[in-house]
Amino acid sequence: MTKQADWLQILVECQKNIKNQISPLLKTLNQPQPNLGLGAGGDPIKQIDLAAENAIIATLKGYDVSFTLISEESGIKKYGENPNVCFVTADPIDGTTNLMRGIPFYATSIAVSTQPTLRTVHTALVTDLFHDIMYTAQRGKGAHRNDKAITPSTNYTLEEAVIGVDLNTYKVSKIAPQLSGLIRRTKHIRHFGANALEICYVADGTTDAFIDIRGKLRATDMSAAWLIAEEAGAKITTPTGKPLSIKLDPKQKVAFIAAANPKIHATILDLIKPEKEAK
Ligand code: IPD
Ligand code: CA
Repeated sequence: MTKQADWLQILVECQKNIKNQISPLLKTLNQPQPNLGLGAGGDPIKQIDLAAENAIIATLKGYDVSFTLISEESGIKKYGENPNVCFVTADPIDGTTNLMRGIPFYATSIAVSTQPTLRTVHTALVTDLFHDIMYTAQRGKGAHRNDKAITPSTNYTLEEAVIGVDLNTYKVSKIAPQLSGLIRRTKHIRHFGANALEICYVADGTTDAFIDIRGKLRATDMSAAWLIAEEAGAKITTPTGKPLSIKLDPKQKVAFIAAANPKIHATILDLIKPEKEAK
């Protein structure tokens, strides 16, 4: 088996174990939750986030691999004898608020790279934990939804499009002027609340674009979905159309436009016209 095939198998095993570990906790969400402090990404840690992260770590340890974990919850941790050759970037639960409120849209996201950089991600998995749908990608081998190869939509008219826009920020007045032209012209605007999964929806043609120009999303949330989108053939760039090139770190933030095809990507870019590149 190749190195990449091994990692895909390991990630599939990780998500199976996450599902097993969180299943009993799903029944206790209406009970008072312990205060576990803040995670490395800056949000309060929930018991269920930790259980999912522990499932990832236990699975990787079971395969006896060396790796550096870059996680939204516990930050950067090194495991094994040679942890600097493999980086596992994880958001154990993306969409924790949805999960806690019983909204059936949340995922786990895991990306494997040779450096702590987005560009070197070679294997990725995002699993919709409620509907049990698994998105995977390997560099150069395309992207899959369960076992089926996926491609984005070919639609490029805003009149027909379903476009996700994350407006989830107290500083919405800053980005609203940039987005208003696009929102005015788009028939269907959505935001479901788990950005990893929403990028996968662009990858498999469920939606036509997903836009997050807040500069607030953590790299841990989208590193796996980035490869899935790229491998499916979608176009995911900075808000000014440049390739995304970011460090993988729990504190790294990212702004992006994910679009199904170059035509709709160009239309969106033209309507958004950011004043300056998000750092
Ligand atoms: C959140 C979701 C949400 C986005 C937030 C993220 P989390 O991820 O992706 O859609 O608006 O910015 O933090 O915190 O549930 O992992
Ligand atoms: Ca999370």
